[in-house]
Amino acid sequence: MTADATPLPAGRLTDPARPLTFTFEGRAVPALEGQSIAAALYAAGVRIFSRSFKYHRPRGLFCVSGDCPNCLMQVDGRPNVRTCTEPARQGQIVRGQNAWPGLQFDLLRVFDKLDAFLPVGFYYKRFHKPRWLWPVFERVVRHVAGLGRIDVHDVPDLETEVEHLHTEVCVVGGGPAGLAAAAEAASAGADVLLLDRQPRLGGHLLYDGSLSPEVEGFISALQGHPRARVLCDTSVFGLYEGNMLGCVTQARSASEEIMTPSLALRACVTQRFLKVRAKHVIVCTGGRQQPLMFNNNDLPGIFLARGVQRLGRLHGVRAGHRAVVLTLNDDGHRIAAQIAGLGMEIAAVVDTRPAASIAAGPGKPWPVWDVGFVSGAYGRGCLQGVNVRQLSQNREEVIDCDLLCIASPLVPANELLRQGGASFRQGCWQPNPAVSDLSAAGAAAGTPGLTEQILEGHLRGAEVAAALGYSSPGLDTWRSLWMTYSHRRDARLAECAAEVESWDHPEWLRKRVADNRPRKSFVCLCEDVTEKDVAGAVAEGFDHIETLKRYSTATMGPCQGKTCGHALTMTCMLVTGRSPETIGTTTARPPAVPVEMAVLAAERRHHPVRRTPMHHWHQTHGARWIDAGQWKRPESYGDPAAEVRTVRTAAGLIDVSTLGKIEVVGPDAAELLERVYINEWADLRAGRARYGVMCTEEGIVFDDGVGARLAAEHFYLTATTGNAEAVFQWLELWRTTWRLNAVVLNRTSAFAAMNLAGPRAREVLARLTALDLSAAAFPYLALREGDVAGVACRLLRIGFVGELGYEIHCPSAHGQHLWEAILAAGAELGLKPFGVEAQRILRLEKGHLIVGQDTDALSSPLGAGLGRMVKFGKPLFHGREALLRLQEMGSRTRLVGFHVPDGAAPRGDNNWARQLEGCQVVEQGRSLGRVTSARWSPTLERFLGLAWVPEHGAAVGGQFLIRCAGADLPAALAPVPFYDPEGERLRS
Ligand code: FES
Repeated sequence: MTADATPLPAGRLTDPARPLTFTFEGRAVPALEGQSIAAALYAAGVRIFSRSFKYHRPRGLFCVSGDCPNCLMQVDGRPNVRTCTEPARQGQIVRGQNAWPGLQFDLLRVFDKLDAFLPVGFYYKRFHKPRWLWPVFERVVRHVAGLGRIDVHDVPDLETEVEHLHTEVCVVGGGPAGLAAAAEAASAGADVLLLDRQPRLGGHLLYDGSLSPEVEGFISALQGHPRARVLCDTSVFGLYEGNMLGCVTQARSASEEIMTPSLALRACVTQRFLKVRAKHVIVCTGGRQQPLMFNNNDLPGIFLARGVQRLGRLHGVRAGHRAVVLTLNDDGHRIAAQIAGLGMEIAAVVDTRPAASIAAGPGKPWPVWDVGFVSGAYGRGCLQGVNVRQLSQNREEVIDCDLLCIASPLVPANELLRQGGASFRQGCWQPNPAVSDLSAAGAAAGTPGLTEQILEGHLRGAEVAAALGYSSPGLDTWRSLWMTYSHRRDARLAECAAEVESWDHPEWLRKRVADNRPRKSFVCLCEDVTEKDVAGAVAEGFDHIETLKRYSTATMGPCQGKTCGHALTMTCMLVTGRSPETIGTTTARPPAVPVEMAVLAAERRHHPVRRTPMHHWHQTHGARWIDAGQWKRPESYGDPAAEVRTVRTAAGLIDVSTLGKIEVVGPDAAELLERVYINEWADLRAGRARYGVMCTEEGIVFDDGVGARLAAEHFYLTATTGNAEAVFQWLELWRTTWRLNAVVLNRTSAFAAMNLAGPRAREVLARLTALDLSAAAFPYLALREGDVAGVACRLLRIGFVGELGYEIHCPSAHGQHLWEAILAAGAELGLKPFGVEAQRILRLEKGHLIVGQDTDALSSPLGAGLGRMVKFGKPLFHGREALLRLQEMGSRTRLVGFHVPDGAAPRGDNNWARQLEGCQVVEQGRSLGRVTSARWSPTLERFLGLAWVPEHGAAVGGQFLIRCAGADLPAALAPVPFYDPEGERLRS
């Protein structure tokens, strides 16, 4: 490892004022903030970054854009990290992989000499005779195959968050075309999300040319636009059904400068899995250069030209000292001038075209080889020279160089478009007309020329905005300009086609084929597939591009065809003599870029987060959160015990918007409820409410809640937070199965709900409503409709927490207003908000069970103390037969209340009490039941709980043992409710 003596000025992404150090193979390597690991290593003299998959040939930087397999390393234990795009961080530990004993000297390089024994598909042909040989060989193959090693004992400290984003227009790609499209759509009023994989906007202009004032204008317009969001460092890996994009956002300080506050990454989060749903997607992912084939075309020191530009202008690292540029068009000459500007000597520009086709320009201060090609590269470990041939002069020469830049024409980077069904038609890549709401602009659509790419971006942005119903004043202008351009475009596309033609059918390629294919001319760098391998596979009959891909494994490695897809098509064309159109391309499938399994495995977080209408009030008033299904609920506002006391002595208010809210309407509404619930509904009078329980066919408690009758054919039901959707679907399923004349509506999100409870609840509410709240006019288990604080509400008098209480439901849009109005009205009466933890203590004092916590998949209502609810007199209801049998047999376990005798536990310690939940009830060392709920009661000043115990030991006054932390704790059965057993307070 030798340091480069002449470093460049700082690159566009680096901050020279912030140096850092990481280690590579145990040695310290200096870097700058923003610089990639690979750039820092290159500046420190590293040239071999990896060893190839099959032959263990040395590989160096090639694309510097994250597209090829050449820079894969192990970073902080994570295998296969693309170090050319991974930012260097202080203290990182970087190691090589797929080499033994090391990258510089790899003994497994011996496979390179044995290539004659390892042709494509060798594992189908070799080592199968005698039969015993294959199992031995298979073990060897499995041992040496694979890239990187996963430490199964390592627990990565990175955290992946999953976020769901919705937008009207999603533009993928922050280059000139993408910026123009996003700015145009946003200015017309559309909601726009722009995603770019680079840390900064500008696309190729960041390293090839410069940001024009026009492009700078797009960036600043988007930064300040209220309808536009921009996410840099975000790779889109898949376009799925319904215009859903799968994306991964990496955290890096430079990228967060224009992120919206809601998307600011937390310090501990290093990546975020985004699922973006867009009404329209515009793909502007640009284009990429492709490798060319000649002997030893994989030597370190051979770069795509854009890779050299990226390394120099983004990271401030010079790729070499003396360069040869190999090109097929005028771009190569322009790039040669840029490379010279980076301080590198240009030894020669080799152009495959005749001199007459090369654009005249200012005199070139370096030799130009027209009708030339590179027939081979040589060097030990890395490039030392290239063999150049000039067909017109029959001239051949070896040119010493340490850098070969391949300036091949751009091929559209259109994986996402192809996933969406795009195809090559009329000279360019176009979206499938059958796939609506997907369009493309710029190089990804095959449009050449910066001006035209920007114009196409404007046009697509304006078209999409107009299609979404926004007035798009610029649309006619862009259309007419595009028409003008399209006259020139045909000529330009013909030129591009000729370039591609010259690439696909050049004299130099035919000549080389005639000269015999070189042994080490690689089509696929990932899988070490050579031209000879492809020719061999075709000769064996695998001449269709899809079967050729699978048999040869070309395009199936880490790059997934990005750097070898075109080369495979071209080689197949040369070997079969067919046209590229006949050969076609392989099928594009997600992921287009590698995605770590940890990102996809963040399954728990794949569900959307749901927030109640009062969420932001809770947030600003110090709520501690708890997850309840998909919902965020305030667990407490600091002191649950104090909240309990407030409810018992004054009044409390809790947000219960997460409850399921379902309306059942129609002539058969009551009949449906009669059949689904175990209790009766037909006799419920309008204006009254009732507690209800539903069971499965097996007689297991499924859900509970309160239902109220609004009118003869109109019921309003609540369901538990976690079961809201399931209860709705259950009702809908049986409504259709029994063909009942009723409509079931899920109103969970339509209504906010809050429970005002406590001895002073009536006083508080009276300040906000004209309803008669007296016990006679509005008794326990009654429903009333009326205005509260000017909002039309439904009020239910129920008592889950065991106090005088009103559950108030109102339209979600008014939820926060009503919440604040009630709190303001009750402030001088001692009203305070309370959270889920206080509610759990309060309901436990009252002995109310929670379905899912105190019941499980074996809990029947008979054992759970809900026997009085089961109305066997009804001819039909879910679970009837099973419950009848169970009644005959008798329940073997029962849910009972208990308390822990004083002195047996640390008094007042609620954390200790919570540990009891889930502990086993034991008898002579055998498990016979379990504790489902346990808390310290601030009201009764003792530990209370609910537990399933054997029927024979369920009599009040008895005792049982709880196995907790290895010891047996005595518990005494106690009658429930523990608090206000007569129910006087809730009926008051
Ligand atoms: S050099 Fe890093 S992916 Fe190609």
